[in-house]
Amino acid sequence: MEFTKLTDIANYIVSEGKGILAADESNPTCKKRFDTISVESSEENRRDYRELLFTSNGMRDNIGGVILFDETIRQKSASGATLVELILANGALPGIKVDKGLKPFRESEVETLTEGLDDLDERCSEYANLGAKFTKWRAVINIGDGMPTQECIDANMDALAQYAKIAQKNGMVPIVEPEILINGSHSIEDCYDATSRSIKSLFDYLNSYDVDITGTILKPNMVTPGLDSEHKATVKEVAEMTIRCLKESVPDELPGVAFLSGGQTEIESTEHLDMMNKIGGFPWKLSFSYGRALQQSALNAWLGKAENKVAAQAAFAHRAEMNKLASLGQWSADLEN
Ligand code: 13P
Repeated sequence: MEFTKLTDIANYIVSEGKGILAADESNPTCKKRFDTISVESSEENRRDYRELLFTSNGMRDNIGGVILFDETIRQKSASGATLVELILANGALPGIKVDKGLKPFRESEVETLTEGLDDLDERCSEYANLGAKFTKWRAVINIGDGMPTQECIDANMDALAQYAKIAQKNGMVPIVEPEILINGSHSIEDCYDATSRSIKSLFDYLNSYDVDITGTILKPNMVTPGLDSEHKATVKEVAEMTIRCLKESVPDELPGVAFLSGGQTEIESTEHLDMMNKIGGFPWKLSFSYGRALQQSALNAWLGKAENKVAAQAAFAHRAEMNKLASLGQWSADLEN
């Protein structure tokens, strides 16, 4: 697949209901996931697991892009092909996480600022040579007592915009991810407020650095109550408030919004996305960029055993297909059985 324009890459990734597989867990995060199935997080196990996903027949019609971690973009499969080649052969574009994680924001015990700008230009240039067509940078915003502060939001969105400019200079589409964490007992209104302030600030900074919005993908959280909130929201409330929040500040020319799952269950992530697309009335594609919500069933089916590979691939294929249908507003609960 050859692309000459950033906007063509971005549009390909979210074309025809396709979305993104986030498989860019850092090694410590991958260890956390593997611990839940009592599998050692060795380089070989990480490779085997990801190869299983990337070669599942759930890839071809449902996944337009795969986000990789530094280790994975350099890895070869057991057969000798690079994992990047396997992703391309299965119809998706390889992307790469380029942020370097979180550090405390101005000595705060909770608020963080995402790092990684210092040598970003050189790293992006290398990743482009390794075949990456897009990149991801995740900013993390907490809701809590007096939080998020506007200073923390602005510092993170400024860094996201600087990152986006550098990724585009190197010929790659930036995925800009301002994640408002779902952890906490906050209300859906609190999440709306923090999400709205973050996305507004993000597009102000993207404009001020002259980032090409037509060659950018937004990866936001959905607007939901905190996991420990006493007040649960209906699927319709989540869908309507998320659409309203995006409409406030996301420009029409953005090709796509690809949500993170952020701790929602597999079914919740699918159901909310489907409802938004059933409601409709927005100019961008609304799609998915799920990590846990695309991988949980596959991980549980795999259990680190070669003999479970086919079952794990089928579990992943099912979630990928369900989310594609959700991106088209064509999912229904009976399809899950
Ligand atoms: P989750 O869908 O598990 O939140 O992961 C998406 C992601 O890439 C977070 O940066």
